[in-house]
Amino acid sequence: MAHITKRKQIFLYVAPFPALALFKVWASWGLLLPGAAAMLAYCGFILFLAHRWDRPSYLDWAATAYFALATASLIAWPEAAGPIFTDFAVTGIYLCLFCAAFVPPLLGMAPFTHHYARKYTPPAVWNHPIFLRINLLMTHAWAGLFLLCVLLSLYPSVVTRALIPLGMILGVGLPFNLRFPDYYLRRLGLPPLAEQNRALGKGASQRPETPAAISPQPQAGSGQDRTSGRAKEAVMKVLAINSSPRGDGMSKTEMMLTALVKGMRDAGAHVEVVNLRQKSVRFCIGCYTCWTKTPGLCVHKDDMSQEIFPRWLEADVAVYATPLYHYTMNAAMKAVIERTLPALQPFFERRDGRTHHPVRHSPPKVVVLSVAGFPEMSVFDQLSQYVNFIFRKGLLAEIYRPAAELLAQGPYEKQRNEMLAAVEIAGGEIVHSSAVSQETLERITFPLGDPESFAKVGDLMWKTCIREGITPKEFRERGMVPRPDSVESFMLILPMGFDPHAAGDLSATIQFIFSGEVQGTCHFLIADGRMEAKPGPSAKPDLLIESPFEVWMDIMTGRADGQQMFMQQKYTIAGDLSLLLRMQALFGKK
Ligand SMILES: Cc1cc2nc3c(=O)[nH]c(=O)nc-3n(C[C@H](O)[C@H](O)[C@H](O)COP(=O)(O)O)c2cc1C
Repeated sequence: MAHITKRKQIFLYVAPFPALALFKVWASWGLLLPGAAAMLAYCGFILFLAHRWDRPSYLDWAATAYFALATASLIAWPEAAGPIFTDFAVTGIYLCLFCAAFVPPLLGMAPFTHHYARKYTPPAVWNHPIFLRINLLMTHAWAGLFLLCVLLSLYPSVVTRALIPLGMILGVGLPFNLRFPDYYLRRLGLPPLAEQNRALGKGASQRPETPAAISPQPQAGSGQDRTSGRAKEAVMKVLAINSSPRGDGMSKTEMMLTALVKGMRDAGAHVEVVNLRQKSVRFCIGCYTCWTKTPGLCVHKDDMSQEIFPRWLEADVAVYATPLYHYTMNAAMKAVIERTLPALQPFFERRDGRTHHPVRHSPPKVVVLSVAGFPEMSVFDQLSQYVNFIFRKGLLAEIYRPAAELLAQGPYEKQRNEMLAAVEIAGGEIVHSSAVSQETLERITFPLGDPESFAKVGDLMWKTCIREGITPKEFRERGMVPRPDSVESFMLILPMGFDPHAAGDLSATIQFIFSGEVQGTCHFLIADGRMEAKPGPSAKPDLLIESPFEVWMDIMTGRADGQQMFMQQKYTIAGDLSLLLRMQALFGKK
């Protein structure tokens, strides 16, 4: 870009405004069409000059488009367009400003204020995500202000059309513009803009890709710990990314992450949570634009480049919370990790016998959290190997929970709550000591029964879903229980629904004799708030239930009403009738 003198610069800044104001004058003289055409020619000339000297601003383009539209509509429909442009010439000015601020970010273009901010900053920071984010936020603020001006100007009075809008622009907009960048930088613990300019101005040309001043973190390999490397900021900044596609309280990843985040916040960390299911993150397309044409900046304009990546750069710790899919992180999380490529430089570096890309911005430390359906801890082996390989010393902790789906079921409430309490403690430990203790990890990963029973219960759950034609979510919403298909699986499932609170100090034995397709006898001993299943008959049952197996399974899974079935003599009982009446409370089911 050609060098431009200060005078020319100021001229270009203010050049579109006389056109917008003069049009109002022409309109008041009744010379709308000549006025619009003259202003179109004037704006075309400004565009030409801006191209020659520097580059046109969005306002230049918006004003030109406005007068092109005005000229064309005044020629095509003079009757209709005339009164509109006469009465709302001032609104047109604010509309141009609003469009110049509002539209470009929607099209993935640089924010409105970026054009002006570039004049006061060295090129080293122009593509930096923090610089872009500051400008995006300021642009949103300006767009809001201009929209307010548009609305006010619809009311025909000098107060609403000129005094209040000008007062807002000069009294609110400009002071905000002057103070916001430093405020934002201060929040990140970074030096103010003037200091950055001084630091970068000197050597900007030698290091255009490494705006070190705007990036306070030490580079990898410097020996400093990023989690304690902030000079001004004592508070740990955490970005927690949740890649589970499930919402509605179904996600076990979210359940775990919520506890971890609570622990971190209670310990004083500043934690931001990003749910990828609400974001648009495109796949890396391997174009290497972020390494060549726009160093450090991805070619995509989506939530990753505009929101997640800048926040990731600002964070001390990134929590990657992912469900285990096909024995590793899910695709949504992998896409995010791949899209951090702009944080690396293209060159090859040999370290510890391995080839690396050097970092452009040092990455945050990492905590990996994952949940799995299967019960064995070994299901996380591949994920663990991968994250240890790529994050190496940056990996602070791995938190894995197998059998997470089962643990989320009602009967495991106690174990679940204990596990979540331990996850919360893990969050605190990460903030205080950048690690999770072995003791806490053991309280999170404990086995949930034996894997054989796990498989049987899991199979029954799926069979029930298939039989009823429902998804697991609907299964849960309807408060269903897996439908046993044998006396053995009945002995496994029934105690899962047992409510020790409802049992209190009850001591009793309930025996079942099943007939029909599935035949057999079993009994359950209830004592000390526990329930134990036993095969075969009991010597002295308090309650004896004789029923076709399928009838009792219908009652147990809520398909049939226990009382109605009793009235219709579908099953019979002997012994303590009050125990039968208590069964609904004891198992939470009719
Ligand atoms: C596509 C897909 C692949 C899965 N792969 C595995 C797996 O390899 N191992 C496992 O134990 N669970 C696997 N699961 C089960 C999930 O890990 C489990 O349902 C977990 O609770 C999902 O997390 P969420 O509840 O946060 O969505 C898979 C689930 C899906 C949908």
